[in-house]
Amino acid sequence: MQSARRDELLSSLPCPEVFLAVRAGGATDVVAVTTMWVSYDPVIAVVYLKPGSTAHRLVNEGRNFTLNVVDAAQDRQAILAGTIPGNDPDKLRKLGLELVPSDSVESPRVGGAAASYECRVLKVAACGTHDLFLGLVTGWWTRDGAKPVIRYRGESWPLETPLPDSHAPYPH
Ligand SMILES: Cc1cc2nc3c(=O)[nH]c(=O)nc-3n(C[C@H](O)[C@H](O)[C@H](O)COP(=O)(O)O)c2cc1C
Repeated sequence: MQSARRDELLSSLPCPEVFLAVRAGGATDVVAVTTMWVSYDPVIAVVYLKPGSTAHRLVNEGRNFTLNVVDAAQDRQAILAGTIPGNDPDKLRKLGLELVPSDSVESPRVGGAAASYECRVLKVAACGTHDLFLGLVTGWWTRDGAKPVIRYRGESWPLETPLPDSHAPYPH
């Protein structure tokens, strides 16, 4: 497919903007990703990571990561996390994020996120351009008054007002 058409296709699907933080063997990386639930009990999330990237290598090595839902106040840092190469030795300093120790995994959480999930890798599967990592949620944390960010048409959108009569609780 032509690359402009592919960009139009891929960016037409709204996706949550999330920091993935990983620490393994003394090295740490924070990248921008998207995620979704794939199981409710146990709670399992999926991320897709590019083979050859620093985050892919570290998650494979450490078998754990955290997912941190980007708050609107952190969007600039999320774009940096998604564009500064993982092998830039100054990347973490440039991001200026607060990394907080997790309760159940070695990888740190990102302070100020709308929500954080500590994950242990259950399974890795090759899939097209990326590999899928299934993460069992072993700890989680949410922040009241947060404003999560969605990616849509190549830009970041803050979640603000729910539509009326739209409440439908999990599980579904
Ligand atoms: C908004 C946004 C979302 C991204 N989502 C993903 C993703 O889901 N999976 C992924 O592998 N990379 C994603 N990236 C790229 C990574 O955040 C990161 O820049 C890349 O993995 C770094 O690769 P490197 O270690 O080879 O430099 C995204 C980038 C941006 C800006």
